[in-house]
Amino acid sequence: MSLTTTFVGLTLQSPVIVASGPASHDVNQIRLAQEQKAGAVVLKTACSDKYIHMRSWPRPRYKLLDWDKQIAGRSKAFSLYAYEQGYSGTLEDYWQFIKVCKKHASVPIIGSIFADEAHEWKEMAVKVEQSGADAIELDISSPHRPGSLGFEKTFVAAIKAVVSAVKFPVLVKLSPGPDVVQQSISAQECGAKAVTLCNRLRGVDVDIENQRPILHGYFGGIGGPWAKYYTFRHVAEAAQAVSIPISGTGGTMSGEDVIKYIMLGATTVQILSVIMINGWESIGRINGEIEQHMKQKGISSLDQIRGKALESMTYPDEIIRWSGESKKGPRNTWNEEKSE
Ligand SMILES: Cc1cc2nc3c(=O)[nH]c(=O)nc-3n(C[C@H](O)[C@H](O)[C@H](O)COP(=O)(O)O)c2cc1C
Repeated sequence: MSLTTTFVGLTLQSPVIVASGPASHDVNQIRLAQEQKAGAVVLKTACSDKYIHMRSWPRPRYKLLDWDKQIAGRSKAFSLYAYEQGYSGTLEDYWQFIKVCKKHASVPIIGSIFADEAHEWKEMAVKVEQSGADAIELDISSPHRPGSLGFEKTFVAAIKAVVSAVKFPVLVKLSPGPDVVQQSISAQECGAKAVTLCNRLRGVDVDIENQRPILHGYFGGIGGPWAKYYTFRHVAEAAQAVSIPISGTGGTMSGEDVIKYIMLGATTVQILSVIMINGWESIGRINGEIEQHMKQKGISSLDQIRGKALESMTYPDEIIRWSGESKKGPRNTWNEEKSE
């Protein structure tokens, strides 16, 4: 029995990957992830020089909502609201960061970038490859990205430019929403080797005492354990539409969640909030829970269960419905008869 997973040509010791964010901003975090036997690490997203302001973060930049809804002392219900943007150093720092990670780490290192003009995406991706990263994730889906940058208008050209300029695998991270399937197909057609589904939503909450939006008064990224239900759906739909592998991300708290993602067609699962809230040990715990399930069910490889739940997915016209053959028919009158 083994958690070993092949993903975009890389051999991972676990399908559980540390997602891009504050847990992959520092080389010592890579060591901590590796100690917990993470499959790989996606580094914090570096923004192009045009978005230099995104390298400075407001303080505080996080707010934990609904934290009081703890279950058995472990927070299983919460929302993490955050206003964190790009990697906080310069691009030179980022290339150096990748080199140092690669010097020390044995787990694959995936760079992550954000820009707007296609030539900038390309130049940055080439630098990420030259710095030694094993793959790159194009973060076209940040909840903080400028609204003027549309998928068709900006990102298709960016994906094509990057794919044509590098040899290592290119992953594309998409936003949740009605376009996920179509964008996954486009990413595949542009030559992406995988899609990551999905980034966090852009949301807002209100402080009713002060009658203003919370934190800094602007929209922030929002997620939490509840988020898995819509990303499960996106993974399930995309898995039936594309042949490239899918990395699921959103709301994972347990090994059970990872197994669900895999049964819905994902190859890997990227986690972050659970690490931020419950610590690095979460990775080891989640790996252990997956192993326990495999042992109980006699599963030797995760390939055996990938997409299993999709096999029994029904479609609206196949769902068995009540025929509606009531003698009286539906009641359309108010209080006309006493209930029987
Ligand atoms: C504080 C914070 C910062 C994040 N920064 C990035 C980022 O720089 N690039 C990116 O692609 N995703 C970023 N994400 C999204 C995560 O990589 C991840 O996909 C998302 O949080 C869903 O996983 P989770 O529910 O396990 O946290 C960030 C998420 C959080 C909470």
